[in-house]
This record gives sequence, structure tokens and C-alpha cells, in this order.
Amino acid sequence: MTDPSLMAELESLRRQIEGANRAYHDLDAPEISDAEYDVLFRRLQSLESSHPELVTPDSPTQRIGGTPATHLPKAPHAAPMLSLDNAFTTEELMAWHQRMVRLDGRVTTTRLAVEVKIDGAALSLTYLHGVLERAVTRGNGAIGEEITGNARAIADIPLTITGDDWPEVMEVRGEVYIPRQSLETVNAEREAMDLDPLQNPRNAAAGALRALDPAEARRRRLRFFAYQVVPVEGTLEIPTHEAMLEQLVTWGFPVEPHHQTVQGIDDAVALVEEWSETIRTLPFDADGLVVKVDDLALREELGTVSGRIPRWAIARKFPAESATTRLLDIEVNIGRTGALAPTALLEPVRIGGVTVTRATLHNEEIIAQRDVRIGDVVEVIRSGDVIPKVLGPDRRQRTGDEQPWTPPATCPYCETPLSRPEGEVNRYCLNARCPGRAFEGLVHFVSKAGMDIQGLGPERVRQLLAEALITDPADLYSLRSEQLVALEGFAEQSATALIDAIEASRSRPLRALLTAIGVRHLGAAAAKSLARRFGTMAALRAATQAEIEALDGIGPAISGSLLGYLADPAVAEMLDRLADGGVAQREDAIEVGGHRPLAGLILVLTGTLPTLTKAEATERIERAGGTVKSSVSRKTSLVVAGEDAGSKLSRAGELGIEVIDEAELLRRLGGDG
Ligand code: IVH
Repeated sequence: MTDPSLMAELESLRRQIEGANRAYHDLDAPEISDAEYDVLFRRLQSLESSHPELVTPDSPTQRIGGTPATHLPKAPHAAPMLSLDNAFTTEELMAWHQRMVRLDGRVTTTRLAVEVKIDGAALSLTYLHGVLERAVTRGNGAIGEEITGNARAIADIPLTITGDDWPEVMEVRGEVYIPRQSLETVNAEREAMDLDPLQNPRNAAAGALRALDPAEARRRRLRFFAYQVVPVEGTLEIPTHEAMLEQLVTWGFPVEPHHQTVQGIDDAVALVEEWSETIRTLPFDADGLVVKVDDLALREELGTVSGRIPRWAIARKFPAESATTRLLDIEVNIGRTGALAPTALLEPVRIGGVTVTRATLHNEEIIAQRDVRIGDVVEVIRSGDVIPKVLGPDRRQRTGDEQPWTPPATCPYCETPLSRPEGEVNRYCLNARCPGRAFEGLVHFVSKAGMDIQGLGPERVRQLLAEALITDPADLYSLRSEQLVALEGFAEQSATALIDAIEASRSRPLRALLTAIGVRHLGAAAAKSLARRFGTMAALRAATQAEIEALDGIGPAISGSLLGYLADPAVAEMLDRLADGGVAQREDAIEVGGHRPLAGLILVLTGTLPTLTKAEATERIERAGGTVKSSVSRKTSLVVAGEDAGSKLSRAGELGIEVIDEAELLRRLGGDG
């Protein structure tokens, strides 16, 4: 007799996992976190392995990936794209090695390749005589979706291969990903266009790959790392994984540079230890390491488990990213937009090498949905260097003493009644002079994205607020160094440095000021186009809704929020005081009087520059009067090429456009640019 509660649990696990799979693969909108998914999946796997008679053919454990969505053309893979089994602990990693040793004694001494597991979307590229013919997503492992146009928009993917030692037909496989920094840029642009932010780099990559418009793939700044070659016709005389990666590099593919081969499993375990701390310092999301048998012939012999999972490789995931602890209380903060920001105060817990005492609870809707109560044992997750999040409570550990949380009716800082606009998941303090908002607003104002006042971090802002030296951004511009020297922790030198940094920010262009003042929905991209169109804050303040909405990428949400902001008498007064304090409030502030060596020129950046990021180079070129465009045309004046420059460089060659390197750019910018 089968236990009905077991059947019910299996049923429920399968339903939840299938739902999550659909949301994840087909809608690019994950409903649950990876950690939650892993918990469900492992629970199902473990129940099924103790009751193999209850495994159904349609159980989520029996499939390779997601079901391919319907709107893209399907294409089969020459050989299945396999999934990796996971090891969450050293024991599981050793057990994987032991299983191989039992099958083949040679494994005991065979070398292992250890590489980063890039958290993106798998892609298979078919090359015919060295030319990119087709790009196909993983799909269900056997059949994927053809997205060749989008793959061509990824500069990292060679359209033709350098050299001629390739098999006539081959598939090059790898991972498409978005660096974390790029995701921030993309989200700032989306925010400005009033689009929801992309949840995480992986879904952003997967979604962009399957976008119907290659321009979207380009906009999301996708990158690619190759990790495998599958010869389809012709042969490839390569003995090891290491040699295969080297071959890929010679052919012009980017390969994640941290790969290593080690003597045996003990060294692999040690390497995993080392990486468990440093993996989050990579500029992209990596959810663990992949350990692979290096010897390709031995791999063949080891084969797969039911054609789905290779025996010769395993993903060593770092799940220590989450931990359970007690929720002691919920603190209420107010963000710079006035949104209520509930923060969990936690019993201290170690997660991934740091002690966590606070985590975000997002908003009241999520607290209610997940039924989080004060006193609950909660699961907390920390990924990369982002703020830890509370996933949800462990209801089995409830004693009955837990207290449901009710959001406050008034702002904890200024006691203004909070309001929850129709359709919003949060309530807001709408008092523009609220001191809670002031702190967050100031931190944003001085940040790099805003007025970029160096040396003024959140702690200093807190101190200046507490000492009542400032109450809003305009007050910064009347600070004197004597006032600072009187404060704790300010030596003469740091006081002067801060005053200088404030001074320097007076000439930041209007776009920076518009971003800095923190208007809801107004991101960097919209700020830039407003600044270009109106030139001065005075002109913008006089603009009509129609004039504002006439700009590309600015709709009613941005214009409504901007006009509402500017109409607030407190804001008007603050902007007037900023002007009195010497803040330029004009777009060409820096260029006035300065020389503009690139005036009128159109530049295109390609490849990785040795010292400047694309954003920095763009800013300096624009300050010098130039315009940066993303594609090369006859109108292009100059192409600035860095390492791994791709098709733009060849296009420049075809059109006979002058190509310079970063050093030359800096020379033309004239020293400090
Ligand atoms: S090897 C048969 N190496 O992880 C081996 N995969 O869970 C197939 N991935 O579908 C994959 N980094 O999308 C391999 N260095 C790496 C990887 C990697 C990321 C992804 C890949 C694969 C998934 C398996």
C-alpha cells in the first residue's frame, strides 16, 4: 500500500517544479529562487530514489531542460546537450569521483579539469567550413530553438573562425551571459523606459537570446564563453579538455580564463575550497564550478547516465549561499522614492563567509504572500555582493508564538500617513521633506551615478545629517571646511578633500544632476535625453508635458513623475538653492570655456579597452564634444578598438575609417580628457 501523504507530496512537488520550470524557461520570469528550486528538486529526487516504483515518465526529474517555447523555429542538436548533475558538498563531489573509479580504475589517477560554471544560457553554434551557420538554444537537450540572428549580434561570437584546422562541420557550445555591471546599465535604461527591471543576469540572458528582435540581444550586452567542441563531420585530434579550450582560443572564441587542470580529486576539492570565497568576485554570476575528466577518450568510455547526464562531469554548486536563522524583528525604512522598505533584523548567521544580521523583505505584499512572521525561522539567501534576501519561513518550526506583521500606517520618520497607490505592491511616504527619504536621497545624490562626490559615503552622510549640517542636497554646497574639522573622524586633510570634491561636482552636467535628484522612473538614459534637449534646468522647468513626451523613450510615466516632482514647491526651493550654491544646472557646463577637441565627430567603440570602461570612454568623448554610436557606418569618423574587437573593426576596414587605440584616444582628448 502506498502512503497517501507520500503520493500527495510527490504530486505537489512535481506540480511546483513544473510550474517553476514553465515560468523560468518559457516566460523568463522565475517565480521562486534557485535555492528554493534546488530544495524542491532534491526532495523529489530523494523521494523517488527511495520509491523508484513511484517515478512517473513525466516527472520533472526525467527531463533534461525546459520545454521549447513555440514561436521560434526548432532545430535538433547533432548530439544531445546534456545537463550536469550537482554536488552540493565535498562528500558528494568525492562520491561522484568514487562512482567513476568503480567503473574504471584509471580514473583514480586521471587529471581533472576544473572551471567556472557560468550562470547564463547554454548555446550551441554550428560552424560549416569555419563559418557560423546556425545558433540553437539548449531547449530540451535534443531540440532547441534557432536564434542565429541574435547570436550574430553577440560580438564575442566569431562569425568566421581564424585558422583552417577545424572539422568541416562542428558545434561549439558555451554559455551566453550578461556581466552584472551590464545588467545594471540595462536595468537603468529599462527603468527610464518604464520597463520592469530584469530579475537576474541569467534570465536576462536567456530572454534576450530568445527575443524576436536582434536589437534587443544587442541592447542587453550579451557575452559568450565557449567550453566545448562537438565535431559533426570530420575529426578533431585533440586529447584533452585543456587542449580543446586552447584550440577554442586559437579559433577566436573567448574561454573563461580561470580554468585549471589538477592531478586528482584531492586537488580538485582543495581548488573548490579556494573558489568558494572568491567566486563572487567574478564580474558575472557563477553558481559554482564544473569538474570534468580531462582525458577525452576516457570520457567517451565513461559515457552518460541514460543519455541525459555525463558521468565524467559534475557541477559543484555553492549552496552555502543560503542559511536559516531567526527573524527577530522587522525594521521599517523609507527609500529615497518614499517607498516603505521593510528590513529583517536577524539572529546573526554566517552565509558564504560573512555574518548577516539584516536582509531585505522587499515589500509588504511579499511579506503577506509568504506569510513571514516575527519570530519565524526563515531562510536567507545571499548571492554575489547583493543585499541578502529573506526567502520565506520554515512553517514546520513554528511554535505558535510568531507574530504576523502589520505595516505602519504612518511614516516612521515624519509621521505622514503612508499611502498605497492603486496597483502598487508598496506603500509610500509622499512627504518630500521626510528625513528618512532625505538620507537615502542624499546617498543617491552623491553616488557615482549622480553628482559623484568622492569620499562622501553613507556613513559620512549619516554623520552630516545627525550633526544637522545638512538636511538636503543643496546644503552640501554651503558646507565649509571649518565645520567639518570640528566633527569626529575629520582631519584637516579629509575635510579639504571633501570640500574639493563638492566643489568639483558643481560643474557636473545637467544629466548627472537629473539622475542625482532621484525622480521616480527617471533613469540615466532619460536624464541624458532630457538634458540634451533642454540644456538647462530652467528650460526643463518651463517645459510642457507635450514637449517632454516628444522625446524618444519618455512616456507618460516619466513625464508625469517629473512634472509632479518639479511642481512641488519644496523641490523648486531646493533647486533654487542648488543654483545659488553654484551648481551649474546646465548640460554643457563642462564644455563651456573648455576645449572640445572631438566636436562634431562620431566615434564607435569596440572591444575591451585597456583602462577605460565603455561608459567612461563614452562620457569623456561626449565631454570633448564627440558623439558615440554603437554601429559603424559611412558617417563614422573614428573607431576606437580594444582587445577582442570584432565585426565593427572589420567593417571600419571595409569602409576605410580610421581606427585608433585607447592611448591615441586619450592623446586626442588632451591629457585629462
Ligand atoms: S559543461 C556535458 N561547462 O551548466 C557537459 N557547462 O547544468 C555540458 N554551464 O547546460 C556542460 N558553465 O549551460 C559546462 N564550464 C561549463 C559550464 C556549463 C555553465 C552550464 C551549461 C549546462 C549547464 C548544466
